[in-house]
Amino acid sequence: MAGRIPRAFIDELIARTDIVEVIGSRVPLKKAGREWKACCPFHGEKTPSFTVSQQKQFYHCFGCGVHGTALTFLMEHDRLSFPDAVEDLAGRAGLEVPREGGGPDPRDRQLDDLYALNANVDQHFRDALRDSERAKEYLKGRGLVGETAARYHLGYAPPGWDAVLKKFGATDAGRQALLAAGLIIERSADAQKSSGPGYYDRFRDRVMFPIRDSRGRVVGFGGRVIDQGEPKYLNSPETVLFHKGRELYGLYEARQQLRNIARLLVVEGYMDVVRLAQAGIHYAVATLGTATTPEHLSRLFRVTGDVVFAFDGDRAGRQAAWRALETCLPFAKEGRQLKFLFLPDGHDPDTLVAAEGREAFEARLDEALPLSEYLVRHLSAEVDLGSVDGRAKLAELARPLLARLPEGVYRELLVDRLAREVRMPAPRLAGLLGLGAPAGAAPGPAAPVRPRTARLSGRGSLASQAIARVVQQPAAAREVRHPEGLRLAGDRALDVLAELIEMAQSEPHLSSAQLVERWRDRPEHERLAELAALPLPDLGAEATGRELAAAVERLTAQAGPERRLDELIEKAANEGLSDEEKQELRELQARPRAPG
Ligand code: UTP
Ligand code: MN
Repeated sequence: MAGRIPRAFIDELIARTDIVEVIGSRVPLKKAGREWKACCPFHGEKTPSFTVSQQKQFYHCFGCGVHGTALTFLMEHDRLSFPDAVEDLAGRAGLEVPREGGGPDPRDRQLDDLYALNANVDQHFRDALRDSERAKEYLKGRGLVGETAARYHLGYAPPGWDAVLKKFGATDAGRQALLAAGLIIERSADAQKSSGPGYYDRFRDRVMFPIRDSRGRVVGFGGRVIDQGEPKYLNSPETVLFHKGRELYGLYEARQQLRNIARLLVVEGYMDVVRLAQAGIHYAVATLGTATTPEHLSRLFRVTGDVVFAFDGDRAGRQAAWRALETCLPFAKEGRQLKFLFLPDGHDPDTLVAAEGREAFEARLDEALPLSEYLVRHLSAEVDLGSVDGRAKLAELARPLLARLPEGVYRELLVDRLAREVRMPAPRLAGLLGLGAPAGAAPGPAAPVRPRTARLSGRGSLASQAIARVVQQPAAAREVRHPEGLRLAGDRALDVLAELIEMAQSEPHLSSAQLVERWRDRPEHERLAELAALPLPDLGAEATGRELAAAVERLTAQAGPERRLDELIEKAANEGLSDEEKQELRELQARPRAPG
């Protein structure tokens, strides 16, 4: 591995690449007006809703919502890592990929050494499994055959305190590497007093499950006790290679087995993944003893739009399921299917698939509860839907959840579903929830106090529009006079808008795709890519610039008072307001607002 790829090179690469050519060599594109169209390669469809814009150097599918630059396309379509996608484009353009800092980065050398160490230790555990009747008996007793064990590189860490230490830690550098990989543990200060300085193996007398990253490199291990003992599963600690909140156990193996992964099943345990694969269900992955994280979800949705979560039917399982739902909300949008499967009491996927076989298990997956249905049922169970109060409470409970869903058809459908439940016209409920009525809907009766979320989302949509204008037409930024004023509000979206405008101003020739690529490693990247893909009419840089400047002025004018309003509301809720402050609050609330 080598050093970082300089940003200027990515800019040049995007400038030299034609996305129409890159995608056109993989998908048959047809000219349609100024854009190009095809049937989407990321979801099955018969009429083309996948469009490629030569001007923006961006693609977008109206069906499933995928979008991005030529680099994103290669990453998603050809399943390349970012550096590999860069290499691919550079190869086409006849460019050599430069690396920062000249020669290979010493830190990368060190990482390479750790990967190699993990691979060797993995082999060591596999050899030990072959030699241990006890461990083989255990796995057989759990219903696993040799072929499955081989596919998942199952191994065995024999008893004793220093097998790994002796074999791989003969030198000081060797021990440092073992420590960095989390394979040995340093003795406590107390123990060192009696037996001198030293280390011991982390994994002893355990069946070993290597955890492999998307390229198949071993990044960590999980080890299960064979008989009784605590903890039942011991995992590698967080290391430079291993981040629990990111890895999905079994994803690499699923990719090896399946050419096309249409669906992913998320389960809780190593054993579940392995046992399901043996039953012919190769698309299960497990989080590693942690709750599902947004990083997990981004990775899952990079593979497929169809994800099912399986949970035990007990209380702990239901709690974990609800937590997973909350994490999923920002990811729920049209073109994606998120479902929740609750297993019968006393079963986990391992025991269930062993008991009833693949077909019956897959039938359960087909019948799993869609996220929307689970959400409505869960909330309904907490209130009395027979009473007006209960229905109002349901709307109240749903508000913060719906606010986390991305705007769009999916959210609208969920509001419709909920409206039926609370027996209220959908536009009225949307208004109450602060989500804004869909266009063309009759306005419901005004709510007595405008809910706080409505104000925020009003500001949010104006900010989003402004951001969309900059990323779609960076040249428009030159019309903006004082972007820094946006920072007054202390609002993340406005900070981002300010930064985008400043970037586009200081480098007037940036294209959409270049601007969005600049954000690839930041949390807002996905949202910016989405806004860049929005099909807005192209008014030209000048007209767009005027609209952008006007929007920035409005947002800046609102920023001061909005911030004050937030402060007062916060204070009212916590410590109460003086009479003067109450008056100020009334005035601020009554002040005319620019429409979002
Ligand atoms: P479970 O306790 O549900 O075990 O843990 P399991 O998967 O059914 O295991 P078997 O069938 O008894 O072998 C689920 C997952 O939680 C993590 C592991 O990733 C495990 O696979 N876990 C569990 C730990 O990290 N440590 C533990 O002590 C227990
Ligand atoms: Mn189990």
